[in-house]
Amino acid sequence: MKLNFLWCIALACYASAMAVQAYAQTAVGFPHLEKQGSSTQLIVDGKPFLALAGELGNNTASSLENMQPIWSKLTAGNLNCVLAAVSWAQVEPEEGHFEFALVDGLIQEARRNSLKLVFLWFGSWKNGLSSYAPLWVKRDYKRFPRIKIKGGKTIELLSTFSDASRDADARAYRALMRHIKEADGQQHTVLMMQVENEVGVLRDSRDRSEPANKAFAGAVPSELMDYLQKHKDTLAPELREVWSANGSKAAGTWEEVFGPGKPDSVEMPIQTNSPPLSQEEYQTGWRKLHWPADEIFMAWQYARYVGKTVAEGKTEYNIPMFVNAWLQQPNMAWPGTYPSGGPLPQVHDVWRAGAPAIDILAPDLYLEYFDEVCDRFTRNGNPLFIPETGSTPANVLTAFGKYGAIGYSPFAIERSVSAESDLAAVYRLVSQMAPMIAAHQGKDSMTAVRLNQGDAPKRVALGNYTLELTYTGRGRVPIAPEPGTTPQARATATAGQPAAAAILVAAGPDEYYLGGGGFRIAFSANTTGPATVGLGIVQEGKFVDGKWVVVRQLGGDDIGQGEILSLRPNTILRVVVYRYE
Ligand code: DGJ
Repeated sequence: MKLNFLWCIALACYASAMAVQAYAQTAVGFPHLEKQGSSTQLIVDGKPFLALAGELGNNTASSLENMQPIWSKLTAGNLNCVLAAVSWAQVEPEEGHFEFALVDGLIQEARRNSLKLVFLWFGSWKNGLSSYAPLWVKRDYKRFPRIKIKGGKTIELLSTFSDASRDADARAYRALMRHIKEADGQQHTVLMMQVENEVGVLRDSRDRSEPANKAFAGAVPSELMDYLQKHKDTLAPELREVWSANGSKAAGTWEEVFGPGKPDSVEMPIQTNSPPLSQEEYQTGWRKLHWPADEIFMAWQYARYVGKTVAEGKTEYNIPMFVNAWLQQPNMAWPGTYPSGGPLPQVHDVWRAGAPAIDILAPDLYLEYFDEVCDRFTRNGNPLFIPETGSTPANVLTAFGKYGAIGYSPFAIERSVSAESDLAAVYRLVSQMAPMIAAHQGKDSMTAVRLNQGDAPKRVALGNYTLELTYTGRGRVPIAPEPGTTPQARATATAGQPAAAAILVAAGPDEYYLGGGGFRIAFSANTTGPATVGLGIVQEGKFVDGKWVVVRQLGGDDIGQGEILSLRPNTILRVVVYRYE
């Protein structure tokens, strides 16, 4: 008897040990995020993965038939990843009845085309509103209530104050994650999930339904107040400013702690540039907090709701999950003109406090202030992933080379992608340099520079040398700025002239890799020693499986007889410099 008992114990221990080991093994293999220096990388099958992506139009992937002619265009454009929407309405057309045939088909087709996938869960919200909720949800507005806006009006926007909506959304999302793990837990075609799309209240600065008003009149939850206290030194400056402007209280109602919200009687500004914004407002309004109590209040509510959906999904399949933000715009700078409460930099702390399970707060970057938005979205180590943006090559190089981006993804990619496109060219270049970029992301041995025609040369200290980059555009001869040229005059003069941009990597004490184009580059030394810097070796080439392959060994005319280094568009150069006197 005693022997049997001991044998069972041993078996149970062995079984659980195996289970833990099996889980550990697979857990490691799952796509996941890892810090490297000041950046965070997406690790797929043990290696950093740079997502050279594109997001399909909202409904492009709503059938396999519609996708059929598109897959090959994506691969011809040198994409390695595609963002595709999966809607709650299609996954759970009837309550409790789940359909995953489309999801399975998209995964198989992506594999057949050597593409990775990021699914976008269009659940409770899409661009603020709720057009992708299933009909059984839309119809039962008592069980799944909407928000109320000024004057008690309601719109098709589910309220965050409904546990029924939250739980139904989380249940469906959890079923989807369980299925994706079963269908793809070994192959890792699906790398990440976006949960909801550009959430927040539209047409008013906050939900004014009865439960919302009751909560707004109540105390700020202690979890949020504790978070603010604990992180008071690293809070977003906009949030800290508002909190301190109201006495940095440790507790109180939303308005006591964050100041007055928008009174119900006040109309929402239409903000379509009538009256025209001042230069200052145009350039600064888009990064200010207006009616802060309302926006912070809604950010907390959305973080709690979406955070639950994410946490539920991760219990099934723990891969990276992010939310995307509709950015405040110069002429849409007031909460309600953009989704109030969405994951914008001024409320990132609120989202971090309310939804710790969310890995990335991501910008839909359609604004001209590319670098500034990247700066604001990489505060406090927030990883950078850009799910929606334009196809500007200089932005691609800047995102990966300067901001340590995980991925870059133009929107409605199927409309613009082709083998001849500028995007395809820069994606080819980045995919070649990917192992090197991944090795240097988050370190001060790599950066990226962009210049527009007419911009003054830029000096960058990188490794043992300072590189001075002068704009040459598509040519070789530097195009110097005309003295006294006004920004507007320069803008017209340079229209159509591509920005010059390059990723610069200090790969060794005297060795550099330069990828991009449109520059003349001069080196000067940062350390003591012989004053003159010469071009020792200059090679134009490519990386094959991470190995450098010389295509042209350069001298003579191509380097100004040894005195001028030109980086022509979509080129990778390996340069070894030396010093003499
Ligand atoms: C941003 C949204 O996230 C997309 O789904 C799409 O609606 C675009 N705006 C349209 O510009």
